Amino acid sequence: MTDTATSAPPSIERVGVIGCGQMGAGIAEVCARAGMDVVVHEVDAASAERGRTRLLGSFDKAVARNKMTEEERETTVSNLTFTTDLADMADRRMVIEAIIEDEAMKTDVFTRLDGIVTADDAILASNTSSIPIMKLGIATQRPENVVGIHFFNPVPVLKLVELVTSLMTSKETVARSERFAEDALSKVVIRSKDRAGFVVNALLIPYILSAIRMMESGFATAEDIDNGMVEGCNHPMGPLALADLIGLDTTAAVAESMYSEFKEPLYASPAMLSRMVEAGLLGRKTGRGFYDYSH
Ligand code: CAA
Repeated sequence: MTDTATSAPPSIERVGVIGCGQMGAGIAEVCARAGMDVVVHEVDAASAERGRTRLLGSFDKAVARNKMTEEERETTVSNLTFTTDLADMADRRMVIEAIIEDEAMKTDVFTRLDGIVTADDAILASNTSSIPIMKLGIATQRPENVVGIHFFNPVPVLKLVELVTSLMTSKETVARSERFAEDALSKVVIRSKDRAGFVVNALLIPYILSAIRMMESGFATAEDIDNGMVEGCNHPMGPLALADLIGLDTTAAVAESMYSEFKEPLYASPAMLSRMVEAGLLGRKTGRGFYDYSH
């Protein structure tokens, strides 16, 4: 389904979000709150239900904090549809992939979307934190329409979006993606070249890994490291609490992408982080990471 041809490309009203974990849910939320028609894809009915619950929980929080009225909640909910069939992305003008940081899985999603999404000017975007956009672009027949639109967690609260272009991304795709993030979603956009980690993670990940090494070596406790940065530098949370928020699996996956690109020791995952991921201690989402969230 394509819109009637006009000289200026139409604004993006039909959005697809692939994956409804903490990032996908946040992206779906901000798009639906901005009045877009949003189709959210999950792999199975149980995951879709978990995603819906996650979204409704965020709306409850927003209403409780007077960030959203009851009426806005109703409209936002009505803008969201859940599906387990990727073919439902066919009429989307922008599809944002937000599955786990796994290159093979992401390239597979892009190849499949390329065969499904019909509009020639539809944008296929990834929320990847670190995987080169070029690798996702060349998994499709339309690398000029592939771009990185990287949101920050929690998406409804944090303003930043990193716009990441590969060597093949067209100027038109960049301009439309920027308008989408800035004008439609009211985000603050910074641009980055296609290098693992982009701007923010290239700075943030070595900081978090240093905090983990500091704790691992017995230099200071998790609480003292975090308090140091909260009380001494006015950060909203310390590096270990932040790793728990991001998810230790995501933190390790981003570190791995950066290490494999640059071979810099400062990006190498500390053994403690690897062991915690292997043990399923992934942070807030599993109830335990550097801190216990089970009660
Ligand atoms: N919709 C709208 N607003 C919401 C909301 C929602 N669903 N949920 C919360 N808010 C608002 C609250 O109303 C509150 O606003 P006010 O200050 O105006 O009252 C604000 O968001 C903070 O919410 P809370 O009070 O619940 O939480 P908090 O004050 O304890 O802050 C936090 C929590 C926002 C997570 C804060 O600690 C923070 O900003 N931490 C740093 C997070 C960060 O660095 N994230 C980046 C991670 S890196 C990443 O994401 C990318 C990557 O690739 C790894």
